[in-house]
Amino acid sequence: MSDSRSIPSDSAIQFDSHGRLRHFLTIHGMPRETLLGILDTAESFISFGQREIRKVPLLRGKTLVNLFFEPSTRTRTTFEIAAKRLSADVINLSATRMSTSKGETILDTVRTLEAMHTDMFVVRDSASGSSHLIASHLPPHVRVINAGDGRHAHPTQAMLDMFTIRREKGGFEGLRVAIIGDILHSRVARSQIHALGTLGVDEIRVIGPRTLIPTEIEAMGVRAFSDMRAGLRDVDVIMMLRLQRERMEGQLVPSEQEYFSRYGLTEDKLKLASPDAIVMHPGPINRGLEIASSVADGEKSVILSQVTNGIAVRMSIMATLMGGTDRENGPVTP
Ligand code: CP
Repeated sequence: MSDSRSIPSDSAIQFDSHGRLRHFLTIHGMPRETLLGILDTAESFISFGQREIRKVPLLRGKTLVNLFFEPSTRTRTTFEIAAKRLSADVINLSATRMSTSKGETILDTVRTLEAMHTDMFVVRDSASGSSHLIASHLPPHVRVINAGDGRHAHPTQAMLDMFTIRREKGGFEGLRVAIIGDILHSRVARSQIHALGTLGVDEIRVIGPRTLIPTEIEAMGVRAFSDMRAGLRDVDVIMMLRLQRERMEGQLVPSEQEYFSRYGLTEDKLKLASPDAIVMHPGPINRGLEIASSVADGEKSVILSQVTNGIAVRMSIMATLMGGTDRENGPVTP
C-alpha cells in the first residue's frame, strides 16, 4: 500500500473536545473510569445471548463496516454478531474482496465506503497505526474501532479479557497475572498490560524466551521471567499467547518441541499457580505448542468464555461510541 503509515502519537484522538469517547484505538492513556464504564455496560448486555429475542434497537439505522486486511475468526464474527444484536446493518469486507488488492490506498477505500454513509469502521490490519491513520482522516461523526493493528494494539481483545477476569475473580485488586509466550510480537499483550495496569492488579509478569521479550518491557511496570516455573508461582490469572510466526524474522525460538517443553502450559506447570488460577488464551490456540490440550479443555480454562464475553464487550464499546461516553461519568448509551 502506498499510504504513509506513521503512528500518530496522540491517543487524545480517541476523545472529542467534550471528553466523549469517539474512537476505540488503544487502551494506552485511557482513564480507569472509561474502562470500568465499558465493563459495566457489557454486564448489562451479557444476558442477551440467552434471550429469545436477542436484539435491541440502539444502533438501528446505523451502518458498520468490518474492514479486515488480516484473517480473523473470533474478532470479525463477534463484532458482526454484536452489531446485529444492536440492530446495525453490517457489511463484511476482507482484503481479497477489496480494491486495495488492485492498488487502491487504504484511505481511498475508507473514504469510498464513508461516501456510502458508513457510521462505524472496525479495522484489522498488519500495519501498526492503521486505525489511527483512518480515524484521523474521517469526518468527526464516523467512529473507528481498532480490531488489531500490527504489533501495536488489540484493545477490544484486552477489554473482553478484563471482563472475563472481573467475572471470574470478582475484581482486579490483589491479583497476580502472568502473560506467557511471544510478548515481542503481541498486540494483545501490549493492550492487556495497559488495561491490567490501569485497572490496578497487584502484579503483572511476562514470561517467555529472552528472544521474545522486548528489552524495554519492565518500563511498562511488569516483571520479566525467562524461567516459566519461577514466573508461574502463585499467579491467579494465566494469559497464554500464540507464537506469532508470521511476524518473526529469523530463528527466534528453538524447535517446537523445545518451545513446548520450556514455555508450553502443561498440567504439571499449572500446579505452580494459585489453586484457583484461571487459564486464558485469546486464540487461535496451537495445541501442543503453547498449551496442552488437557489444559486448554480443562476445568481452569475460560478460553471459550472469553469468546462469548467478546460479544457483550463489543456491544458495549459500539453502543458507547455511538452514544458517547463522558470521561468522568462513564457511558451514556442512546
Ligand atoms: N483473538 C483474536 O483476535 O482472534 P482472531 O484472529 O480469530 O480474531
